[in-house]
Amino acid sequence: MTPPHNPAVDGDRRVVINEVGLRDGLQNFPVILSIDAKLDLYTALRRAGLRRFELTSFVSPKAVPALADAADFVARVPRDETLLTALVPNRRGYERARAAGLRSVAVVLAATETLNQKNIRMSLPAAAAECAAVCRAAKEDGVHVRAYVAAACACPYEGITEGTRVMELAAAMLEAGAHEIALADTIGAGHPAQVEALFGAAVAQFGAARLAAHFHDTRAMALTLSWIALKAGVRRFDASIGGLGGCPFAPGASGNLATEDLAFMLEQSGFETGLSVDGLMAAAAVAGRLLGAPVGGKIGPWYAAQQRHEGARSVH
Ligand code: COA
Ligand code: ZN
Repeated sequence: MTPPHNPAVDGDRRVVINEVGLRDGLQNFPVILSIDAKLDLYTALRRAGLRRFELTSFVSPKAVPALADAADFVARVPRDETLLTALVPNRRGYERARAAGLRSVAVVLAATETLNQKNIRMSLPAAAAECAAVCRAAKEDGVHVRAYVAAACACPYEGITEGTRVMELAAAMLEAGAHEIALADTIGAGHPAQVEALFGAAVAQFGAARLAAHFHDTRAMALTLSWIALKAGVRRFDASIGGLGGCPFAPGASGNLATEDLAFMLEQSGFETGLSVDGLMAAAAVAGRLLGAPVGGKIGPWYAAQQRHEGARSVH
């Protein structure tokens, strides 16, 4: 059998970053943004070159009050070539996302029994069946569907996740019609050797074109893990502006990998993201202003110092 196309081997330098700050970032933040504020942030992110967004979740407004405005927000986001998607936990969420005019959704299946219970109040088999039903419906409707396999490295309740289980769930979602699998280190507990093995196996079995990586930076490992997934062949990454993020139902989950940190590392290493790091820094500043909190990735202080330095040079 011919092995699947592997961008790492074929030298493909283009990387797509999916901005998840408006969903993963805001779902857990103590401040609830208005739709106008979300649109301001979206506009700043678009200006920085982002063309793929997970905008919100069509979940229970009681479970995630910060995203209760999902339909109204989506209605106000301009329609252009940008890929707009939303997380849906069940068929009800899928129908709501469709009614809001979205052509792309993401289902979320945790790799462990307990996290499914805590997150969407379903057993693992029930969650797998529900996600598969959404994948099948989406495929039939011509809607792009991503399946997250959450807690792909570790679960806050059950500890380290077996890679074989992640692979089985990913295979089941692809079989049901998912176009893309996002392997998500939901609580940022993965380590390089684990991620190398997991992504190596996933690329070999499913092909890099069907995979995305979603890392949280809880233990300052997210950039390293991204590099490892990149070397395995993955060219699609999630990130959140300013490193916002965390799952309210997964204790210990902290911010996502910051978009500006990832974009900077990739650009420096000769990969093409289509993003402006200046624009991302500006968007992070917008997020901080709107949320009234200091946000920002690891390069923020250094970047600001560079700019002050350059500003001082141009004055003298
Ligand atoms: N969108 C909006 N409301 C929904 C919904 C959806 N997709 N699915 C169910 N609901 C509503 C029901 O109508 C019901 O409303 P009511 O209390 O006003 O009658 C309520 O939510 C509970 O419905 P039920 O079917 O009993 O669901 P549940 O209580 O078992 O909760 C979820 C299941 C999935 C709806 C809920 O756990 C949830 O939204 N979780 C959020 C998960 C999440 O966002 N995690 C972070 C990202 S991974
Ligand atoms: Zn996440």
